[in-house]
Amino acid sequence: MNCYVVFLVLTISFTQSAKILGVYPFPSYSHYKLGDSIFKELAKRGHEVTVISPYKEKHLPHNFKQVLVEDLIEKSKEMKASLIDQINHNILEKVIWLDRMGITFTELALSHPNVKKFLHEKHNFDLVIFHQFMSDAYNGFCSHFNAPCVAVCSMTAPGFINRKVANPGSPSYVPQLFVNYPANMNFVQRFYNTFTYILTEASHFLILRPNQNKLLQTYFPNAPHLDDLYYNISLILVNSHVSINDVSPFLPNVIQIAGAHIDEPQPLQPELQKYLDNAKDGVIFFSMGSNLKSTDFDNKKRDAILKVFSKLKQKVLWKWEDESLLNKPDNVKISSWFPQQDILAHPNTVLFITHGGMMSTIEAVYNGVPVLGIPVFSDQGLNMIRAELAGYGKYVFYKDLEEKSFGTALNEMLSNPSFKKNALRRSFIMKDQAVKPLDNAIYWIEYVLRHRGAPHLKSAALNLSWYQYLLLDPIIFNIKFLFSNNSRYC
Ligand SMILES: *[C@@H]1O[C@H](CO)[C@@H](O)[C@H](O)[C@H]1NC(C)=O
Ligand SMILES: *[C@@H]1O[C@H](CO)[C@@H](O)[C@H](O)[C@H]1NC(C)=O
Ligand SMILES: *[C@@H]1O[C@H](CO)[C@@H](O)[C@H](O)[C@H]1NC(C)=O
Repeated sequence: MNCYVVFLVLTISFTQSAKILGVYPFPSYSHYKLGDSIFKELAKRGHEVTVISPYKEKHLPHNFKQVLVEDLIEKSKEMKASLIDQINHNILEKVIWLDRMGITFTELALSHPNVKKFLHEKHNFDLVIFHQFMSDAYNGFCSHFNAPCVAVCSMTAPGFINRKVANPGSPSYVPQLFVNYPANMNFVQRFYNTFTYILTEASHFLILRPNQNKLLQTYFPNAPHLDDLYYNISLILVNSHVSINDVSPFLPNVIQIAGAHIDEPQPLQPELQKYLDNAKDGVIFFSMGSNLKSTDFDNKKRDAILKVFSKLKQKVLWKWEDESLLNKPDNVKISSWFPQQDILAHPNTVLFITHGGMMSTIEAVYNGVPVLGIPVFSDQGLNMIRAELAGYGKYVFYKDLEEKSFGTALNEMLSNPSFKKNALRRSFIMKDQAVKPLDNAIYWIEYVLRHRGAPHLKSAALNLSWYQYLLLDPIIFNIKFLFSNNSRYC
């Protein structure tokens, strides 16, 4: 055995010592997928991983355990069915809906018998990684196990991330969640964006935080107040990158990992492979993601879409969550599930019709496939506006979807090659990184382990109150001086 092998063995045995708890009970597969990729990679690298999860894995390695909360999937069905109604909500309703949704699912997870049992058992962890989505009571796991906290967010850094580590994100140039604006906002847009920012802050402090603290005190009886844990977070991994997001500032403890969930392409089932291989004029892939359902479209919109499809020479694969589809044209193939990443990776896929969720946008850009968005809620409108500005996409809001609007957008995208060119350019930007996103995520997680929480990454801004942060105190002080008669300052 030479020295190199000894070194390798020592390194592996050092990394193997970490015991990591993943808190990922939110029953939405698109959110789960990002955490799942990270946990599997951590396990592959020898860490002992335990994950609180709603999705049961069939084949788990010996160092990967699950605490299952499967019934949360059933409990989320009603919420998911109502998502499409969000198009009629005003901004206040949307903001409050999100906070309430977070409170509901945090409580469902924490009150789950398997989670309660797990918390009663004796466990030790070196690190807690939790899903950050209006779920601040999960900070209680870090306090319970006395371990550093890493948060993962399946979006780019929105207000609820920035606040935790004092990451800057002024509403003057960072569009808020639910606001469908470009980064270059005019006065009215900046006004509305700031208004939304203030509403979000108000809802956070009046609704979300007190309720999350209540959950924290109920399910972690010895925990300090949430205010004492909220900012005690070592690292946040956010699902963004300049290839798909606006440029915005990130502190050293906020790391962008968009693309970390992308899997190695897998071979398609023979039938599907043949279908795509034989599509001379290309294939359009149509999916509204894992939370929304195409079957929830109202009949008029569904018929308008089918009329447009029936006139195409391209084939269409539509993720349609039902056995049959009335008046389905011959060039349309339906299924309740498709291997999305592998279809997007096929060279004959010419267009992706999508709800514009973050995961789908990343997968499209990674594979250089132009997107036609039908945004419904959350960050979907924002993602699709960026896609249109970057020239690889267009969008028709669900509300405005008619045969004419949809058909015009679709035909323009199919006939104008600039969309494909821009999609490939964006794909190149996404892939041109010093370190692969998943490796980067693991590096920073292990960094937190090596540096025992890495407190040296914390910003001094966390110690300021809001008026100090906004410099209101020196500004008022200066104004006072300006108007007073003090010759020393002349
Ligand atoms: C904050 O986190 C560190 C570990 O990163 C831990 O040692 C400390 O006790 C935590 N503080 C509180 C108030 O929980
Ligand atoms: C906040 O202030 C305290 C007390 O002055 C100091 O010990 C701590 O390091 C400060 N935190 C940061 C992140 O600068
Ligand atoms: C300003 O200060 C000077 C000297 O201190 C004084 O003579 C003068 O009356 C003051 N003027 C006003 C408007 O207070």
